[in-house]
Amino acid sequence: MAEVVIVADEDAAGALVADAIVSLIRSKPDAVLGLATGSTPLASYRALAHRIAAEAIDVRGVRGFALDEYVGLPPGHPESYRAVITREVVEPLGLTPELVRVPNGDPATIRTAGADYEAAIDAAGGVDLQILGIGRTGHIGFNEPGSSLASLTRVKTLTEQTRLDNARFFDSPDEVPMHCITQGIGTILRARHLVLLAFGSAKARAVAAAVEGAVSASQPGSAIQLHPHATVIVDEAAASELENLAYYRYAWANKPDWQRT
Ligand code: F6R
Repeated sequence: MAEVVIVADEDAAGALVADAIVSLIRSKPDAVLGLATGSTPLASYRALAHRIAAEAIDVRGVRGFALDEYVGLPPGHPESYRAVITREVVEPLGLTPELVRVPNGDPATIRTAGADYEAAIDAAGGVDLQILGIGRTGHIGFNEPGSSLASLTRVKTLTEQTRLDNARFFDSPDEVPMHCITQGIGTILRARHLVLLAFGSAKARAVAAAVEGAVSASQPGSAIQLHPHATVIVDEAAASELENLAYYRYAWANKPDWQRT
């Protein structure tokens, strides 16, 4: 089962994520990070940027792979995930831009973009720590309900719900692309450590389904139950529909040092 950690707020979650990534980079200076976009990981990226600067951590060798990208946005569009990853991750953390990849959403090369991305992840030796958000539909990456649990990077059609949820980043809902290229659930499960973050009551149902529901393609987040090392960090609101809440709190409060990773 995933380890579930209930925190006060996004900053507290960010501190835990930054701790995990800093210790990873200290033991492996060319660590491979799996990078989510959207609002959820922003506090973690801020906390990590702060730690890197404060402790003068050398991150020039750190590599990164984004989870997903919209298909068909013009190059340089500010809401393309390439642009978001540059703005929110590469620049504030001081990563080497050439070492951070985002799936290529150019329609001209989309037929081969998934296989190319898989090959690049393999060549990097796989992802060490994958940061995940979760959508209200239960998606991880952009694997909407019905996505194969064995899927690899490929094109998907976004649900209307997800397009509406992401309309806040665009001038109008119609501008949100209908298609995306996303790491598959199979791709995500190959990462060595999954860290799923969720905040706010709008995510409570998806979190409960992911952590405690049946493992099913209808709830893509539930695939984390198949992973031997998954950590779920949520605030009280996102945790509110979990049944085993008391146990998660008890396990975390009594976690011995030798169990820490
Ligand atoms: C983003 C991604 C998505 C988001 C999810 C939640 O790269 O893969 O799964 O994590 O849509 O989005 P936010 O964080 O904006 O609520």
